[in-house]
Amino acid sequence: MKTVPTPKTSPYLQLLNWIFRPLEYMEANFQRCGDLFLARWGMLEWILVSHPDALKTILTQDSGDVVSAPGEVSAILKPLLGDNSVILQSGDKHRQRRKLIMPPFHGERLKVYADLIQNITRSLMGEMRDGQTFQARDLTQKLAMRVILQAVFGLHEGDRYRRLETLLAERLDMLSSPIASTLIFFPALQRNYGAWSPGAKIAQQSQEIDSLLYAEIKARRASLDPTRKDILSLLLLAKDDAGNGLTDEELRDELMTLLVAGHETTATALAWSLYWTHHHPQIKEKVRQEIEADGAIDNAIALTKLPYLEAVCNETLRIYPVAMLTFGRMIHQPITLLDYTLDEPGRLLVGCIYLLHRREDLYPQPQEFRPERFLERQYSAYEFMPFGGGARRCIGYALAMYELKIALGTLLTHYDLEMASDRPVRPERRGLTLGMKGGVEMVFKGKRSVPTPAMV
Ligand code: HEM
Repeated sequence: MKTVPTPKTSPYLQLLNWIFRPLEYMEANFQRCGDLFLARWGMLEWILVSHPDALKTILTQDSGDVVSAPGEVSAILKPLLGDNSVILQSGDKHRQRRKLIMPPFHGERLKVYADLIQNITRSLMGEMRDGQTFQARDLTQKLAMRVILQAVFGLHEGDRYRRLETLLAERLDMLSSPIASTLIFFPALQRNYGAWSPGAKIAQQSQEIDSLLYAEIKARRASLDPTRKDILSLLLLAKDDAGNGLTDEELRDELMTLLVAGHETTATALAWSLYWTHHHPQIKEKVRQEIEADGAIDNAIALTKLPYLEAVCNETLRIYPVAMLTFGRMIHQPITLLDYTLDEPGRLLVGCIYLLHRREDLYPQPQEFRPERFLERQYSAYEFMPFGGGARRCIGYALAMYELKIALGTLLTHYDLEMASDRPVRPERRGLTLGMKGGVEMVFKGKRSVPTPAMV
């Protein structure tokens, strides 16, 4: 049995490479070390796993005695999310919390949000002037924020909505540049060291956000309306097996969690999808034709069922997966992954989604954006996993896919957009996610005259 290879570079240099050049870091070590390698980032050690069979072994048993998915390993997120976030819970508590939160994100309940996503897309585009230049990333950021505020928080208008929209965007933006990302990896820097430290600004923002969130929770508890369909209303009514609901603190932390986990990720993915479909205009044309032939133009639910549109969204999430890694998993008993037997209890594993999605054996010419690959082949849950898997599989994956398909389908069919330049857009770290350098500059050419189904 072999020992898991490890890069020779010092742990702090590895950490800097991981922060500032994450793709080069992962690719170089995949070339050198292969399907598993032991990464050392400062004090932290993880085994990065990018082979589908090994991922399957880990993620099919990550709530058992051999491997677990403990929340403690994500402690760096505590200052942002709060102690009660589902991401920071472990074992039974984590399972129960997921059971409580998941229902509004699935099945029939989700359909309620389809029209809302389409309406938000249209209302944002309604604010644009013909010929206006804009950053796609700014547009999708606003869109994703409004979807969260309306679908998750149940806020539609008013001062609290507007203030939260601004404050939350500022709070997340503070962690978005590669330099600012170091704040996440060195939480001590987030502490308040006086008026001019980043920590002071974070503390003031967090306080204001908290008071707005608690005010909203209090107001909604006081007049519980069982007919409301937003996720906060459903969470206010939800009870666990013992009949207990969530406390105000738990609700506040889960709202922040859903916002942080669901906003940046979806906004970036949607901006990438706009980039790819305009960088390759023949792909945009093909999406339009599929939508128009189906008569799905004004039918948000119908948009979610179109195979080529789905393939474009999948390829977007494959080529630059917004979440490069899964959360950490911990070994408790010996486990065999490929040719390696890992027998050190406490050793941490993490799924490397980026390297998995770049494997030549699964995705020939992986650097090429080619949606057809998703129509030619069925990928297993461990070969294509933009939303992770196992015990911590993304809670919002169905909502995110809805948002991508409906917003992209609506933007491509109702509006004429163009890239402002032919220059390729490069990926760059954005906080904990993989974002883009610059924001994809585009030009709004105007509204399209949409063919009615009879004309197609
Ligand atoms: C394109 C958009 C998104 C991507 C790529 C994405 C990706 C992921 C990934 C990779 C994980 C970790 C899975 C693992 O460790 O196995 C995760 C977890 C999570 N995601 Fe998402 N996500 C997206 C959108 C959303 C949305 C819209 C929401 C909710 C509004 C959301 C809520 C969560 C939560 C709460 C978790 C933690 C689950 C747990 O700890 O049990 N995500 N997501």
